[in-house]
Amino acid sequence: MENGLKNYFKTLKKLLSKLLRRETSMKRGKLIGIGVGPGDTELLTIKAFNTLRDVKVICAPKSAISKPSVALSIVQPVLEDREDEYEILEPLFPMIEDKDALNGHWDHAAAIITEKLQGGSDVAFITLGDPTVYSTFSYVQKRITAQEFEVEIIPGVTSFTGCAATAGISLAEKDEIIIIVPKVDERLEQILKYGDTVVVMKTSRHSELLEQVIGRDRRNKEILSVQNCSMKDEKVFEGFTRDKKYLSTTIVKFKD
Ligand SMILES: C[S@@+](CC[C@H](N)C(=O)[O-])C[C@H]1O[C@@H](n2cnc3c(N)ncnc32)[C@H](O)[C@@H]1O
Repeated sequence: MENGLKNYFKTLKKLLSKLLRRETSMKRGKLIGIGVGPGDTELLTIKAFNTLRDVKVICAPKSAISKPSVALSIVQPVLEDREDEYEILEPLFPMIEDKDALNGHWDHAAAIITEKLQGGSDVAFITLGDPTVYSTFSYVQKRITAQEFEVEIIPGVTSFTGCAATAGISLAEKDEIIIIVPKVDERLEQILKYGDTVVVMKTSRHSELLEQVIGRDRRNKEILSVQNCSMKDEKVFEGFTRDKKYLSTTIVKFKD
């Protein structure tokens, strides 16, 4: 009888602590990295659209206090149709090279997101193109994962596939190799000969050097640049960009 009672309380204790654990884990929110595509709201995936209609907190980092977030402007039509209440966090992610200062900004963004997650709200972190391609989302993701919060990624249309679509070209066929670079330096010169297509992102930062490196390759080539892809002021032209616009991508296709 005594043993029976002991076992009964043991089972009860186990059940209660299981319930408590479930309750505590249910209260923690999830970080959702959402790729919002290159610019046109219609390029949002259905999954991104549905999540943005539902999630209570949206984090839309901006590069300057006075500048509106491009990612936020892409999802604005979806948010405008919502009738419930939601919150927008707009941490500052300036375009600077100082690593310590940048770490400070990412820490701050992670801290304000953590507060919401701990309070039980999911947070959607919106980012241009896809969250897994040269996105600041990854810096925040690392900090949130380290605290053992759940993280989900909803992929988006990348800027360079958007640019290829706008330019009406294919990026690769058969066994062709695509090289994608965010910066022009000696590494590009070394691998260039293996590539059939080169996608250069952030071209505004290094357009002159890019012209020299590509010019030294003797193969026939087609050079196309796209600025503000799928936006109202989209521009597509042959050759390199010279006006230092941030949302510029250059695609070089080599032809034998
Ligand atoms: C920080 S990276 C972001 C990349 C993004 N996560 C993606 O998946 O495409 C920014 C660079 O992406 C390219 N980019 C992003 N949006 C673009 C657009 N709408 N038109 C042309 N290039 C774009 C530009 O090269 C820009 O400098």
